[in-house]
Amino acid sequence: MLDLATIKNDAEVAAIMDMTAHTIEALGYTEHTRRHSGIVSRWAGMVLRTLGRDETQVNLAEIAGYLHDIGNCINRQDHAMSGAVMAYRILTRLGMSYHDAAQVMAAIGNHDEQFGLPVSDVCAALILADKADVHKSRVRNPIDNVLNANIHDRVNLAAERSTLETDKDSMTVTLNIHIDTQICSVMDYFEIYFGRMQLCRRAAEYLGCKFSLIINGTSLV
Ligand SMILES: [Fe+2]
Ligand SMILES: [Fe+2]
Repeated sequence: MLDLATIKNDAEVAAIMDMTAHTIEALGYTEHTRRHSGIVSRWAGMVLRTLGRDETQVNLAEIAGYLHDIGNCINRQDHAMSGAVMAYRILTRLGMSYHDAAQVMAAIGNHDEQFGLPVSDVCAALILADKADVHKSRVRNPIDNVLNANIHDRVNLAAERSTLETDKDSMTVTLNIHIDTQICSVMDYFEIYFGRMQLCRRAAEYLGCKFSLIINGTSLV
C-alpha cells in the first residue's frame, strides 16, 4: 500500500503543491496550501475509519484528500478534472495499483460542487472533509475593512471554528461551525454554501448516514 508520507515527500508532488498555493493566491482565492490539504486528508480518512471501512479505503481517502486540489496548479476552472488526471499519473508512477489509483482519480474528479457527486465511499469522505474546512485563516485577500470584503471572504473570515464529526452509533456526520455574526449572517453563509451543503448531504447519504449542520450551536439541517 502506498503511504501518504511517500507522496508528501515526492519532489514532483512538492513542486505542484507549491505552484498550486502560488497560483491560487495570485488569483485571489482562499488558501489552498498544505494546511487545507492536510486537514482534508485527515478528516476524509477519519470519516471512513469511524464508519469501520477497511484500512485500504481509509488510506485512499487520505491520499485523495491530500491531492484533491492540485488541479488548481493549472487553473481554478475544472480543477477537479485536471487534478484527478494529474493524481492518477503521479500515483501510478509511485507504484500504486491501477485499480486504487482509479479510485482516487474518481474521488478527486467528483469533489467539486459544480459537477461532482459522491461516486464512491472515498469520494463521499473527500467531499465531506473538503467542504468542512471553512476557516478565517484561509482568506488571502488583504482586508482593510471586514464589512467591505466580498461575501466569500466575509463568510470565511467569520468562521472561527469548524469541525467534522462522524458518529457510528447514530450514523450521523455533523459539520459544526462557529461563525462571528458581526461579520456575516447565517443567511450569508447559506447564500455561499447552499450548494456545498446539498452535496454534503448527498455524500453522507451515500455512506448510509444523515448529515447534520450545526451553526453557533443551532441545528439547521
Ligand atoms: Fe477543490
Ligand atoms: Fe479543497
